[in-house]
Amino acid sequence: MNMKFERPRGTRDFSPEDMKSRDFLFQTMVQVFESYAYNHIETPVFENLELFTAKSGDEIVEHLYTFKDKSERDLCLRPEMTASVARMYANGLVHSRKPLKLYYFGPMYRYERPQKGRYREFWQMGAELMGASSLESDAEIICLASDCMDKLDLKYNLRLSHLGVLRGILSDSGVDEKTQDKALGCIDRDEAEELKKIVDFQLISPLLGLSADSSKGFKEFSDVVLSSIKSFPSALKAFEELKAVMGLIQSLGKEFTVDLGMSRGLAYYTGMVFDISVEGLGAQNQVCGGGRYDKLIELFGGPPTPAVGFAFGFDRLGEALKIQEKPVDVKGVDVIVVPVGDDVRAESFKIARDLRQAGLASDYDLMGRKLKDVLSFASSAGIKYAVIVGPRELKDGEIVLRDMSSKKEKRVKIKELTRQF
Ligand code: HAM
Repeated sequence: MNMKFERPRGTRDFSPEDMKSRDFLFQTMVQVFESYAYNHIETPVFENLELFTAKSGDEIVEHLYTFKDKSERDLCLRPEMTASVARMYANGLVHSRKPLKLYYFGPMYRYERPQKGRYREFWQMGAELMGASSLESDAEIICLASDCMDKLDLKYNLRLSHLGVLRGILSDSGVDEKTQDKALGCIDRDEAEELKKIVDFQLISPLLGLSADSSKGFKEFSDVVLSSIKSFPSALKAFEELKAVMGLIQSLGKEFTVDLGMSRGLAYYTGMVFDISVEGLGAQNQVCGGGRYDKLIELFGGPPTPAVGFAFGFDRLGEALKIQEKPVDVKGVDVIVVPVGDDVRAESFKIARDLRQAGLASDYDLMGRKLKDVLSFASSAGIKYAVIVGPRELKDGEIVLRDMSSKKEKRVKIKELTRQF
């Protein structure tokens, strides 16, 4: 009986063509991460379920891929990596050199309703900076993300805020941290009625619609905010921090919007938060999100450690490259070796190996096709040169080198072949 299998819902296959642009994206971003002295790490794809419910509560379970292993342990596929990196820090990196600058790339899993730009399996590329609380560390994280966008030559909108402003108003009014988390969740999901049930809406409502653009200056915005928060010292302190971070990124020529009504879906943020969106991606247009989370490492049993980071939605970035028609710089195959007749196959096979050892990406006709067919394969595959190995030339220690774009051919000594490229 023949069977036909479909992919699980919300997952994708990536063809060699897809992988070319994904690899280009990855390599370009690695260059930016490493230019800021960040180091690559990896963590397990599955974790103990509690790692994610500890801060977010049991409500998060419906958005996770959870399962029990054969020893009845509750596990889940990771929905993001910040919790894993915080766990890794609390477990083993506590005594490493500070600050720790880490980056990661890998698949994440969320049990969500699939739609354009929203998958059940998707990739994130992110950075976490641990052990530094300075304003420059907030600014560095924002600039690192925005430099990735600049390096990819993508147009984007950068938006930032500081959760300490809203949290400050609430905590100075006696609202506990758990209720603050809930309130920020409601703001994130635009649930005004729910929000009104848990906090005094009047306290924060003047700030929720407030935003301003760096191109227009912040004086007026700042005056309005200050008048709304003047009796809340914690909010005032947070706003001063936000203004200092804004000043730092403005001094690097970055353009952005500040939006105090912005919250973030994840419960662990404590300070500066930001996101990056790209027009044309539809409803799921956020390509990056991040912020400061100073209490997570402590929650996982580590010492109090300030931390800030972000993650790019790698798949959405790939889509943005397509929409904005950015060229993908792909290193192709340099040469294909074509034996003309069975007598020369062994020697041709060896020539291909020698070309590879000389650093050239080299293919070899594995199928014993006619020369004409291999040449048409090579031109459709974008291979730059063909090394045609014929019995007559081989007797003289030579081959025919064909430039696939100009179609010009010349005889070349095998010994001198690698010098031709
Ligand atoms: P997040 O905002 O949940 O943050 O996800 C970051 C990015 O991942 C989003 O901006 C989006 O581009 C992408 N993304 C999220 N869900 C999906 C999905 N279902 N399909 C495709 N792309 C998706 C975090 O995950 C935090 N860990 C970021 C962070 C790092 N904060 C501090 N450090």
